[in-house]
Amino acid sequence: MTYAAITGWGKCMPPAVLSNADLATFMDTDDEWISTRTGIRERRVSHVSGVDLSHVASVRALACAGLAATDLDLIVYGSCSNDEQIPNTASGLQYKLGATHAAAMDVNTACTSFLYSLSTANALIRTGAIKSALVVGVEVIAPFMDWHNRNVAVLFGDGAAAVVLQASERPEGVLGEKLGCYADARQTLRVRGTGLAYASGAVTYGDTLWDFDGQEIFKRAVVGMSHASADVLSRCGHGIDDIGLIVPHQANLRIIEFVARKLGASMDKVFLTIQRYGNMSAATVPVALVEALEEGRVAPNSLLLTPAFGGGLTWCSHLIRWGERTTPRDGTDVDLPPPTRSALEMVRQFMANKGTAGRSTAGLNAVRFAESP
Ligand code: UT7
Repeated sequence: MTYAAITGWGKCMPPAVLSNADLATFMDTDDEWISTRTGIRERRVSHVSGVDLSHVASVRALACAGLAATDLDLIVYGSCSNDEQIPNTASGLQYKLGATHAAAMDVNTACTSFLYSLSTANALIRTGAIKSALVVGVEVIAPFMDWHNRNVAVLFGDGAAAVVLQASERPEGVLGEKLGCYADARQTLRVRGTGLAYASGAVTYGDTLWDFDGQEIFKRAVVGMSHASADVLSRCGHGIDDIGLIVPHQANLRIIEFVARKLGASMDKVFLTIQRYGNMSAATVPVALVEALEEGRVAPNSLLLTPAFGGGLTWCSHLIRWGERTTPRDGTDVDLPPPTRSALEMVRQFMANKGTAGRSTAGLNAVRFAESP
């Protein structure tokens, strides 16, 4: 039987840090509220595009695997903050990497995009359709954040990471997954202004309003992540005690604690990045996975569990058998150019560009959706 081993991994975190204190300079919030309600202390703001961020992460992942970009059969770009709708963003990454033999597709399931992308690439390798793939989780959310909405603006951050999958006869990589979606809750997270429904000119494209029912998302996330985890564990014949490390989606520390409790896992087994990076949507799980490897938290041949949820309201959990190797084969000097402005200066510029100060929301609210919810 063919499996899809994870042979390479790399991340690229934008260097500009936006602290809770920075946020408190322009919105009615404070470090105490944000850190006790969410666990977040700071997040990153990208000064480059999603393709540029994921390019550096991908070059690092390829060096780690010891694979040339021209050997890739497929690139899957998991994100909900694509640089453009058309052409797709994976093609931009393919071009920048010189991965001339790779098919290139975007997958958007919001925060679960990397994990749905992983399932897609894993399945194509396991059926023999392809032999290698690059799977990316990347978000550049700061430019379309509604920085006037403290309910959401404190939660998110930018980042990117990538993994390389290669066909293997050893039983490793994704052993099983459970994917699902509570579509009746899709209205709980909607970014008005980012899709073609808004291209009519009724509003300035890119000016956003976030519909966000935090408490409902919280409840659904706990149920979805724990249900998916219990399902995949029992189908694969494993219990929570067999898991070496849980690498969950990180939207709120309290959500993670609830899920761990429901699964009967101690928090010692959970790898956290939320304090430093906030919720990076699709980038969260792969960045955490890379950091867990860097910190020696992934044992050779151990089992990992990656419960996650995202807008839609999508949810999933993957059971992954890590391979023998937990260190990179090689490194690279490729890096981002340094930012010329601080994170706070970039955010103030985004706000000024959109003219959001004191704006009317009538245009955005007037956009009608044909479907419901
Ligand atoms: O990947 C999908 C992303 N979605 C999520 O991660 C959402 C999951 N939900 C959550 O993480 C939590 O529901 C939140 C962190 C969003 C909110 O926490 P909460 O404990 O559910 O707070 P709340 O919404 O009940 O708000 C409590 C209070 C409210 O004030 P009043 O009405 O009690 O006077 C809010 O206005 O906290 C206020 N508040 C804030 N105060 C200071 C809301 N946001 C802030 C803020 N700073 N940033």
